[in-house]
Amino acid sequence: HPHIAYRDNTLYVEGVALPALAREHGTPLFVYSKQWMLDALAAYQRGFEGRDALVCYAIKANSSLGILRVFAEAGCGFDIVSGGELARVLAAGADPAKVIFSGVGKTRAEMRQALAAGIACFNVESEAEIDVLNAVALAEGRRAAISVRINPNVDPKTHPYISTGLKGNKFGIAHDRAVAIYQHAASLAGLQVVGIDCHIGSQITEAEPYLEALERVLDLVEAIEKAGIPLHHLDFGGGLGIDYNGDTPPAADALWQRLLARLDARGFGRRRLIVEPGRSLVGNAGLCVTEVLYTKPGEEKNFCIVDAAMNDLPRPAMYQAFHRIAPVVSRQGGQALTYDVVGPVCESGDWLGRDRALDVQAGDLLAVLSAGAYSMAMASNYNTRGRAAELLVSGDRATLIRRRETIEDQLRSERLGD
Ligand code: LLP
Repeated sequence: HPHIAYRDNTLYVEGVALPALAREHGTPLFVYSKQWMLDALAAYQRGFEGRDALVCYAIKANSSLGILRVFAEAGCGFDIVSGGELARVLAAGADPAKVIFSGVGKTRAEMRQALAAGIACFNVESEAEIDVLNAVALAEGRRAAISVRINPNVDPKTHPYISTGLKGNKFGIAHDRAVAIYQHAASLAGLQVVGIDCHIGSQITEAEPYLEALERVLDLVEAIEKAGIPLHHLDFGGGLGIDYNGDTPPAADALWQRLLARLDARGFGRRRLIVEPGRSLVGNAGLCVTEVLYTKPGEEKNFCIVDAAMNDLPRPAMYQAFHRIAPVVSRQGGQALTYDVVGPVCESGDWLGRDRALDVQAGDLLAVLSAGAYSMAMASNYNTRGRAAELLVSGDRATLIRRRETIEDQLRSERLGD
């Protein structure tokens, strides 16, 4: 890819060579290509050209302020799932009128916070939440705009932990309850029904689950509108996958061409459309630079012990996820060995890659690729490890968007007790 590539055996992000960044900022270090993010967004914008559409970046994928600012400046809306995420998007300069609030467990305090901020829409996920939101809005003297997340019962053919549109999970409301629930919501004075939404899963690499979900959602739109409740927008969630290991998801513009053709055919092409992509906007734009601490030949396996760990890159431990691991400076003509690349954390689950052919020595730098999404955002302090630093690269400039977390940062909120 043009934005993350080797030049003279050295890995660059846009115009910046990674070894110098690692020397200056230390490791583990997340580095993001701004242009890659803008290109990914442009694919959606191309797909929606001439339509009334809003791309709401699902910030759970990467909620760092410097990343949010890129999308805010590019005109994006945001999909949030907590009061904390709301504070982040506002701090990054988001227009609250382009913010939607998803999630199965919104608290009353979060509802009040979002109403006061004037967000565009709550994506509600249960009958109980509808009643609570109505009560909160009435008590605040406001009306909450809502969309109901329906569960289209479509198999996205992805990892079970990240498939969300099937019957047996906690998300959304059942298809056959939808009309009754919409009628109830429309009768409440604190609510204004504005849309319908769904989200069927994540890291989806085929178009078919989207097409299937689209038909089911449109069937419901017809039924709900026949019951006298107009729906102003249709929100198809996020979920489009990226290339981790030769995966071939459809491009966002190609996918939306197909979906829009169906929308047009069924007469819904002029509706306001919302999407909530997360991973596909940032996932491949970022990588994590880590230093090899030790190589450890073993009887069954060779281990390459690096200074990044499951607290920095939790996806392999949590989902057995694959991330490519590449040398930052590639050795020419050396002998590769097969390694498990592991972190320093005291768990066997702390691995970043298994059975990787690498020609490495202690002190070398490796890049864990496709680490822009669900990595820093899911990082923890396990083993009292500070969170990594983050850099945003644009052209030949690298800007620090998060300094490395210090031990003082970690201890600040704690007390010894009595
Ligand atoms: N909208 C809703 C309501 C969601 O729940 C999600 C993600 C998105 C949008 C964005 O989905 P995306 O476009 O990023 O696939 N930590 C997991 C992924 C969890 C996804 C949760 N929901 C991973 O690392 O694979």
